[in-house]
Amino acid sequence: NKVVLAYSGGLDTSVIVKWLQETYNCEVVTFTADIGQGEEVEPAREKAKSLGVKEIYIEDLREEFTRDYVFPMFRANAVYEGEYLLGTSIARPLIAKRLVEIADETGADAISHGATGKGNDQVRFELGAYALKPGIKVIAPWREWDLNSRQKLLDYCDQHGIKVEKQKGKSPYSMDANLLHISYEGEVLEDPWAQAEDDMWRWSVSPEEAPEEPTIIDLTYQCGDIVAINGEAMKAHEVLSYLNKVAGENGIGRIDIVENRYVGMKSRGCYETPGGTIMLKAHRAIESITLDREVAHLKDSIMPRYAEVVYNGYWWSPERRAMQALIDETQGPVNGDVRLKLYKGNVTVLGRRSEDSLFDEKIATFEEDEGAYDQKDAEGFIKLNALRLRIAASKGRKL
Ligand code: ARG
Ligand code: SIN
Repeated sequence: NKVVLAYSGGLDTSVIVKWLQETYNCEVVTFTADIGQGEEVEPAREKAKSLGVKEIYIEDLREEFTRDYVFPMFRANAVYEGEYLLGTSIARPLIAKRLVEIADETGADAISHGATGKGNDQVRFELGAYALKPGIKVIAPWREWDLNSRQKLLDYCDQHGIKVEKQKGKSPYSMDANLLHISYEGEVLEDPWAQAEDDMWRWSVSPEEAPEEPTIIDLTYQCGDIVAINGEAMKAHEVLSYLNKVAGENGIGRIDIVENRYVGMKSRGCYETPGGTIMLKAHRAIESITLDREVAHLKDSIMPRYAEVVYNGYWWSPERRAMQALIDETQGPVNGDVRLKLYKGNVTVLGRRSEDSLFDEKIATFEEDEGAYDQKDAEGFIKLNALRLRIAASKGRKL
């Protein structure tokens, strides 16, 4: 028997390798992906080898992650509970998919991950795995072992000869990072009244420390996706890296929220989503001139549902596919340019233009128009819409 482990190369998942080998007497296959977390993935190879792992998968998934997960989600303008741009949630379905694919390739019958039994991530990994490979076995060590403190983990390393490198500048927070965001949970943040420390944030300057000069950028859209910045064509992951950089420099994309986890508890988290914050604003701007009103409102009405589906771990579900099909169908005309100003934590739209624009200056103008819109028509429009209100009022209905 064999198990494929989502392996970061860090302390926790290194302990998991040993623990799986011992507890299940199994062969462990490690899978480490670069999804833009900003840490080298190659060191995971030596680390895994030293733990006796023979099959080691290390992959650069930055383009696939951005193109096939982040971009489709941004076509929906997805935001969970009004604030969270779903940075961690959207990376899990891809990891789940690769885990089961690697299980197929290596003949493994189980997968394993380092998420705790209290969070959303376990749900996302496992729902994804079951949806893609119904017979798969899942091993979640955090739900089984009793190594539930830092000290116990270190003792375990000691007993089993796992080298623990003193990581300098190691943050005390529970963090997760990919090209879309970096998250911080735990420690002082567990008191929702306690202010986050200034030096917690890693990807952005504070708005106070951002430059006095604004940055102006032009984004070009094709079918709802950004394909060029300042006229230069870029791949999806290049777009997101570029936006992360300019947004971070201008103090954009920090949030501090309390959210409802799917397992039922409230949890406080701080997130930096610099590029994503720009993408949300810009996508709404280009949609504002290219989408029909009812189509835009229909999209908006399913958006909270879409966000909840992604948050709760149902990326690989028929309802997400169905909503995605509707969203993607609307994006054909979402083409054109958006010009933005980035300044001290803010993203401001300066302009938007499109060959597919529905904006008609001749109709919208406050100047005299050429008969395309007859103001007299508005009288009947309003009167008929008022009909039921007038009937109710005439019958003495109280409002
Ligand atoms: N609360 C966020 C979410 O559920 C972030 C989770 C971060 N995960 C982690 N393993 N540190 O999407
Ligand atoms: C974890 O519990 O592993 C991280 C937090 C979460 O999944 O929500």
